[in-house]
Amino acid sequence: MILGLAGCALDTPQSSLVARSDLAHAILGVYAIIAWSAAIIALVVFGLLGFILVRYRDRPGAPAPRQTRGHSLLEISWTIAPALVLLIIAVPTIQVIFRTQGRAAPGSLEVVVRGWQWWWEFQYPGLGVVTANELHLPVGRPVLLHLEGPDVIHSFWVPPLGGKRDVVPGRHNRITFTPETPGEYLGQCAEFCGAAHANMRLRVIVDRPDDFERWVAAQKTPPVEPAGDAAAGQTVYARLACVGCHTIRGVSAGLIGPDLTHFGSRRTLAAGLLPNTPEHLTSWLRNPDAVKPGVKMPNLGLSEADARAVATYLSSLK
Ligand code: CUA
Repeated sequence: MILGLAGCALDTPQSSLVARSDLAHAILGVYAIIAWSAAIIALVVFGLLGFILVRYRDRPGAPAPRQTRGHSLLEISWTIAPALVLLIIAVPTIQVIFRTQGRAAPGSLEVVVRGWQWWWEFQYPGLGVVTANELHLPVGRPVLLHLEGPDVIHSFWVPPLGGKRDVVPGRHNRITFTPETPGEYLGQCAEFCGAAHANMRLRVIVDRPDDFERWVAAQKTPPVEPAGDAAAGQTVYARLACVGCHTIRGVSAGLIGPDLTHFGSRRTLAAGLLPNTPEHLTSWLRNPDAVKPGVKMPNLGLSEADARAVATYLSSLK
């Protein structure tokens, strides 16, 4: 029992029992209805069971209790009771689902979320910003996420803020919520989508409004002009196959990997697997599959020197 409860820490990074948005509070409300219904049912069932075990226990010389067959009232009751319980759970659940996939509240920030094998693309159509794996949102402002899938089915899930909602190719799913507290919230893909599913992480950084404006302004600027070692790294980058998959505005225009225009401003690389440092980036570039088995980014057979040069360049793209 104690060991079991020890597994239920409330404040772990991906706890769905910690609510930091209106949607997460609504989900917790549904949990509460289910938990209390289950507790009341358990009390009734175990109470009756205890009573029957005592009342009708075997006693020496006692006659067998009276046998009952075909009791219509009882049979109707235990058919209706579970249906009522399901109804009590279904009504608020469906209400929350419909309320959080509807139209945008006035003043909403809209973001297109695209799930790729195995990373997340975030496009802010109203702001002209594209980034990957780290979603910045301003605190207190409703957000409407448009969920799209270019390849297979994924599922968007950031437990303290909301989800899970599937990202399905050819469908347009939506999810709306309002983040309530600034901070960094971890999430991950919640639908098995292939080899690196477990490593398809994301984080949502909920900023104070002025921090968010600063972040947007920085993302909208053209990439920094590299100098010194970073400039040499850009030359290496430009002659490699990297340019076929990745966009760096004004440098390359690939569309099937994450946009790297402001890669250096991200906290992590490889969809949240490693802290974004030049050392980690160098080992990632030399052998992506060793860091993230199954990854679609090929091993280009870079020399240590070339990998280091490209890492220096990419890290400079703040
Ligand atoms: Cu994407 Cu699992």
